[in-house]
Amino acid sequence: MRLQEIKLVNFRKHSDLIFAPTDGINVLYGPNGSGKTNILEAIHYCALAKGLNKSLDRECLRFTADYFLLHGRFIDERDIEIAVKVSYAKASDKKIFLNSEELKKYSGLVGRIPCITFSPMELTVVNGSPQERRRFIDNALSQTDKRYLDDLLQYRRVLQQRNTLLSVMGESTINSDNLDVWTERLSLLAGSIISARLDFIERLLIYCRSVYEQLGLGEVPGLSYRSSVSRQIADMKEKEIVEAMMLRFKEITSQELHRKQTLLGPHRDDIVFRLDGIEVKKYASQGQLRTFLIAIKLALQRFIHEVTGESPLFLLDDLFSELDRKRVEKVLLLLKGSGQSIITATDKQEFDGIHCISIRKIAGEIEAQDP
Ligand SMILES: Nc1ncnc2c1ncn2[C@@H]1O[C@H](COP(=O)(O)OP(=O)(O)OP(=O)(O)O)[C@@H](O)[C@H]1O
Ligand SMILES: [Mg+2]
Repeated sequence: MRLQEIKLVNFRKHSDLIFAPTDGINVLYGPNGSGKTNILEAIHYCALAKGLNKSLDRECLRFTADYFLLHGRFIDERDIEIAVKVSYAKASDKKIFLNSEELKKYSGLVGRIPCITFSPMELTVVNGSPQERRRFIDNALSQTDKRYLDDLLQYRRVLQQRNTLLSVMGESTINSDNLDVWTERLSLLAGSIISARLDFIERLLIYCRSVYEQLGLGEVPGLSYRSSVSRQIADMKEKEIVEAMMLRFKEITSQELHRKQTLLGPHRDDIVFRLDGIEVKKYASQGQLRTFLIAIKLALQRFIHEVTGESPLFLLDDLFSELDRKRVEKVLLLLKGSGQSIITATDKQEFDGIHCISIRKIAGEIEAQDP
């Protein structure tokens, strides 16, 4: 997948700007606060219908404006053009148009333009709470597996219903028939979600190992799924997961009624990242954390390519300040030949085979011939 051109109108800092990257590795450079990350965010909107780091639509609206508009033109590996328009106005909801047709659900966009990000903010995927890692896995799988996204959205609805029921039931007045219905529905969806996650982790690990080998760091990464349902989850089939869950739910009903919430399921699970067998989150250095993050993102790029046949767009915010020069060179080597990447940096970079673009030029702040 390649971004040919994106136009931003009243998006964040930019009142009217066009960014047209080349096919390979692009470095968008300029001083702090010049709006580089804003451009990555705009591209992310066109790919995944949302901004970066959980930002809200209205936060992306230029301070003095009433609406923002994004228009991205992409081209896929079969040379088919995909046009995405995102518009938002204070007075109405966000609207998304795919090839001029308005999408009824934002989820209809997800997966059409595979896209991966790397940013300093995302270090929390490696060292933050389990929720961050669940978000990572959910985002990744939603882009490659439509059924996963549907199941996940449905799971969230059923979970909410079940929690509501638990909170109104009270400990003494158990009418478990109604609860059983929701428990079964939840378990079926959970089985499908967890088994997709297990399969994903297994495949991602293979890529992750090969990325580490190519980075030549002499460390061996490990990924495993830690489930609230069972310790033996990795060896279980979907049906067995559903059965194990229903059984566990029976054992913990009174606890759930007491706590008024669902205590088992994919919404309570985690992924454990390891380096040479040691848990990354607890023991890794800052540099190792960053390298781990970039490695799982590079592994994800290969996974998405394998599943969809499309090399995802890779948006890398501040890569150069995050890693030392030797690691950057290795990462650039891995990015080469695997689709389009857009990297932001504060200064022009001197690396082979990259295309540098000054944000001040595209924003019309300096003349095209200036350095
Ligand atoms: N809704 C908005 N309206 C107008 N300006 C905004 C809005 N949101 C953010 N900005 C401005 O955009 C600028 C930040 O842009 P951005 O984060 O893209 O900079 P950057 O070039 O990535 O900088 P750095 O090198 O520090 O990462 C800030 O100066 C901020 O005030
Ligand atoms: Mg930035």
